[in-house]
Amino acid sequence: MIDSQDLKMILSIYKDAGDDEIISTTTQNRFEEKKEASSMSEPDPIIATVSPRLSPQIAQKRDDSSASAAKSLEELKEALRAFEGCALKYTATNLVFGDGNPKARIMFIGEAPGADEDRQGLPFVGQSGQLLDKMLSCIGLTRETFYITNIIPWRPPGNRQPTPAEAEVCLPFVRRHIDLVNPDFLVLLGGTATKTLLGGRDGIMRLRGTWKEYTTDAGKKIKIMAIFHPAYLLRSPGQKREVWLDLIKIKHSLKEAGVTLKECL
Ligand code: URA
Repeated sequence: MIDSQDLKMILSIYKDAGDDEIISTTTQNRFEEKKEASSMSEPDPIIATVSPRLSPQIAQKRDDSSASAAKSLEELKEALRAFEGCALKYTATNLVFGDGNPKARIMFIGEAPGADEDRQGLPFVGQSGQLLDKMLSCIGLTRETFYITNIIPWRPPGNRQPTPAEAEVCLPFVRRHIDLVNPDFLVLLGGTATKTLLGGRDGIMRLRGTWKEYTTDAGKKIKIMAIFHPAYLLRSPGQKREVWLDLIKIKHSLKEAGVTLKECL
């Protein structure tokens, strides 16, 4: 017999594991969503349907035109606020758009907001953000000299990984975000950002640590590098060495390009 104390304990175990929201009364087959999203070359206007908590079925629908019509970051933020094609919006508390210096020459892109980011409406302010800030400060970068955003601007319930379909509907906004910030260097944090922006078969393990080329929608060529996500480093601290090596490469490239870096304290 389970009593109320047991129930409280079970709920706290779920909460500690990040499962702190009830999102749907029906189970979702994420494998099916993946199959639909794998044909990324010819995007279907309706990508998937998901039933978020207390909402009717939401059609996950790409909308390239409202993203590309945005002429400034403010307009892009407003376009995202008005965008109804991603079900995650309905379970999130805040839109998490971006942070840092929008004129920076280096831009970082993560996966999706977590609970702290959702509460504050800012990217990378929780534990993994604090680790990232510390590591970047060691190569002379602060939020005054870099810009940061995510592939997905709304927190996936329970901090689950976003599905490829969710990344696909948000992609036009991310690409426009890059165009508007117009950086010279782009750093992808973790596998989701890497898969979404670099595509291909190779994952983060193979791709990390080498500069590749990314062409913006405006036709500009940008240096792009994938590195491990700070949340992964918190789980696997043994991988920090690889990130340090990658950060040193980034620092050298920035210096070569004449970017002013702070002395590391
Ligand atoms: N992880 C991310 O990918 N983004 C955030 O904003 C926070 C944690």
